[in-house]
Amino acid sequence: MTELAFPPGFLWGAATAAHQVEGDNGNSDWWKWELQPGSPCREPSGRAIDHYRRYAEDSQLLASLGFNTYRFSVEWARVEPAPGEFDPAQLDHYVRMVEAVRGAGLIPFVTLNHFTLPQWLAAMGGWRAPGAPALFEAYCRRVAVALGDRVDWYCTINEPGVVAFGGYLGAFGFPPGTRDLGSWKRAVAGLLAGHTRARDALKELRPTARVGATHSLQEWESNAGGRPAIEFARRLNEDVFLEACDRDDFLGIQTYTRVRVELPAVVEPLLRVVLAAPPLLRLAVPLLVRRQERRASGASGGPGVRLTQMGYEFRPEALAATVRRAATLHPGKPIVVTEHGLATADDTERIEFISRGLAALHQVIGAGLPVQGYIHWSAFDNFEWVRGYSMTFGLIGVDRTTQERTVKPSGRFLGEIARTGRLTIANAPGHPAAG
Ligand code: BGC
Repeated sequence: MTELAFPPGFLWGAATAAHQVEGDNGNSDWWKWELQPGSPCREPSGRAIDHYRRYAEDSQLLASLGFNTYRFSVEWARVEPAPGEFDPAQLDHYVRMVEAVRGAGLIPFVTLNHFTLPQWLAAMGGWRAPGAPALFEAYCRRVAVALGDRVDWYCTINEPGVVAFGGYLGAFGFPPGTRDLGSWKRAVAGLLAGHTRARDALKELRPTARVGATHSLQEWESNAGGRPAIEFARRLNEDVFLEACDRDDFLGIQTYTRVRVELPAVVEPLLRVVLAAPPLLRLAVPLLVRRQERRASGASGGPGVRLTQMGYEFRPEALAATVRRAATLHPGKPIVVTEHGLATADDTERIEFISRGLAALHQVIGAGLPVQGYIHWSAFDNFEWVRGYSMTFGLIGVDRTTQERTVKPSGRFLGEIARTGRLTIANAPGHPAAG
């Protein structure tokens, strides 16, 4: 057995997002999207896990397991139900929530936008609306003023790349469901400007707070034939957003899997020509989106590949690859793992995933990369967007009829690592930490 020690002061946490856990988020674009005829969603979010009312007990529960950090989001659609109208009762709600989180002994790690938008902004075009960045900044200012010095960690926008690709190129059935490159480009511009404006406003109001964005990053792998496709997809989904983070205080890294593209070598030069020519590109992008849709619906993998409920390759060590890549792009910038996890009905798999992922992370920390925390997705089983409640990502299970919480063995396992700052692993051959 080997014991791996993590640095003192490491953030150990679990994450949620408002729409996925709070329930009754009726002013949001997703609420409407779930209920519309022909919705791509498996089921509506409904009462979710009633976290809007149960946040205090839920925070206590997380703290009792050993965590020191809780990542959650403030819901823009609640705070600003109509343009320019901020609801003081909702701002107070989040102040009380932050106080409960802190009172439980947890560091609040607050996300200001986790996928959902107020319906009124969605009606204006969402992130494509010319005014969206300024509106987002105004909302963030209100929240930061209300929360004051109770919050030291802010994420502006969760996974802008997924929002753009999933909603504006139509890859994951997210709203608004447009499928053209022009729509994607305008949304990307809005997301980047929104992030920059929000970050600058937060730093102006709270100079000592640490502000960044969280990024969905994959471990990419290809043979020579597939390399141009990989490079193209990675640019589109990741680099565009990572490059805009030069002045951020940290990079939030969220990794679930590895993506492999294997194509015959003869395709490579052809693909390079296609991807370099805008008219041909317009033809190539829908193919990429369709491939992504197949992955998202669980139809990926190939023979012999171990898959999670989501249909992703079971690959906990992908995290080390993405942390290394982020550190190469932004040398020296602090990194926080803000999501890592898997959907599975077999909790022993979650323990294995955490153990192997953390062992790989420990190696990159040992190599000198400035990783400051590990926040698992998710604290609770919750509403997994288009896939509804069918995906179980939680360290804690929830019976949605009684709203009773049941801690899974993985919750105790990770909680104990959090409490001690140590992970014990078997020296199995091939284990990343076994050498
Ligand atoms: C998102 C979460 C989501 C998780 C699992 C991340 O992309 O931030 O909202 O539930 O992945 O799919």
